[in-house]
Amino acid sequence: MKKEISSGTLSEKLFEQVYDYVLERIRRGEWKADEKLPSVRQLAVELNVHRLTVFKAYQLLKQNQHVYVKDKSGYYVQSSSMLQVARQDDPIVSAYVHKSHLSEIHQVQAAYQFSIALLDPNLLPNLYFSEYVKKVFDLYPKVLGTYSTTQGDLELREALCHYFTKHYRFFLSPSELLITSGSQEAIDLIARVLIKNRDVVLLERPTYSPAIDVFRRQGATTISVEIHPYGYDLEEVERLMQQHKPRLFYLNPTFHNPTGYVVPAKQRKRLVELAEKYHCLLVEDDPCRDIYFEEEPPLPLFSYDTAGYVIYIRSFSKYIAPGLSIATVACRPACMNYLLKAKSLADSGSPLLNQKIFLHYFFSERMQQHLAKLRTALAMRKELMEAELSGTGWEWYSPTGGFNLWIKLPVSTPMDTLLSKSIEQSITFVPGSICDPVRELTTWIRMSYSFLNDQQMREGLKRFIQVTKEIVPHDKCGSA
Ligand SMILES: Cc1ncc(COP(=O)(O)O)c(C=O)c1O
Repeated sequence: MKKEISSGTLSEKLFEQVYDYVLERIRRGEWKADEKLPSVRQLAVELNVHRLTVFKAYQLLKQNQHVYVKDKSGYYVQSSSMLQVARQDDPIVSAYVHKSHLSEIHQVQAAYQFSIALLDPNLLPNLYFSEYVKKVFDLYPKVLGTYSTTQGDLELREALCHYFTKHYRFFLSPSELLITSGSQEAIDLIARVLIKNRDVVLLERPTYSPAIDVFRRQGATTISVEIHPYGYDLEEVERLMQQHKPRLFYLNPTFHNPTGYVVPAKQRKRLVELAEKYHCLLVEDDPCRDIYFEEEPPLPLFSYDTAGYVIYIRSFSKYIAPGLSIATVACRPACMNYLLKAKSLADSGSPLLNQKIFLHYFFSERMQQHLAKLRTALAMRKELMEAELSGTGWEWYSPTGGFNLWIKLPVSTPMDTLLSKSIEQSITFVPGSICDPVRELTTWIRMSYSFLNDQQMREGLKRFIQVTKEIVPHDKCGSA
């Protein structure tokens, strides 16, 4: 029986409907990895559309890495298609599961976890936490008896407004802040409310891996913007904005994950001008701002925004108290209304107890003193990692803040093998390809220096260097 593709709405072209149709069948698992798709001619007959329409849809699917072409044979489902959903064959529970590439690595139990860009829990003032918890119960005896509002605790939002205004000239009202359970939730909410199938999203290359997964899950067509130690090629960014009319540019310009680069102030200002000119939202993710080893980084992009084009995400989970999972989103009212609707579908507000503990801890004198110690401790761990790797011949940019070294191995390396051999030695790291929207960076890896203590770091690196020697050809491996 023939299927009919409707003539569609004005905004939805026929080839886009064919694109969605094919993608949906891949999603449902009807067409599996490496399976051949119907020929252009077959699908055109089946859907009662012109062959060129199917061809155009296939070309876009190819561009978005959902299908690939075999010479003279046709189109095949890409096995690494990030929109492809693991549909379980359980007859009772079948689910549409989207993969988070990074979290799969984090789930590996290993003694030497260089994959985790999180603070060593021993660097936190753990002994004092109970004081803040007690203080919160004394001040708010009913704190466990109620929900937070969806937008987040007003007292916390007021304190954060004051803090952002004082430090970064944000000039916000509490109604322009949303408290979320970490910035991962914030990225997810933003993607849900702003992105639909085929919307174009600019992503840095490399970028924070779960952001790729989230925007792809929404069906976005992602386009990469290379990030360099000096920032971006802004002429290229302008060209991409002009040509592709992206809905948003997700970026992490301060101690960028995974590279550690910092985009200079001049570029930040210009980016905001470009965003305004081309109506492209900038989603600025800023979880490492406080972890600087030398001077404070430049002001956030949000500080330069007067027209409402920047959505600012600030996580405090990574170095304040990861167990509290507190982040905030700053944006102007129109966008906030959408985010609130999405947040209220996800939960009824982040846990109130966490917000109150965070409020009293973050704004305490002790926390500010603690941050200074933390910067020193992390700078020393970075130096230790660099010293341990110094004989390898590997290359990296020495970051002035953040948690990671972005390391270039001497040759393109079979990452699956390197990772599995490392896991056998109880070591994890992040393969560069999962931070790459086009999955091609096979010479790069991300190693975090924040999670392991000195002794673990030395031993783990010794083992890791040995593992790479066994995989990377000897003459390419350096001397260590
Ligand atoms: C750039 C970036 N965004 C978001 C997150 C997630 O942060 P959270 O723990 O607040 O969800 C991370 C964590 O590593 C990150 O590096």
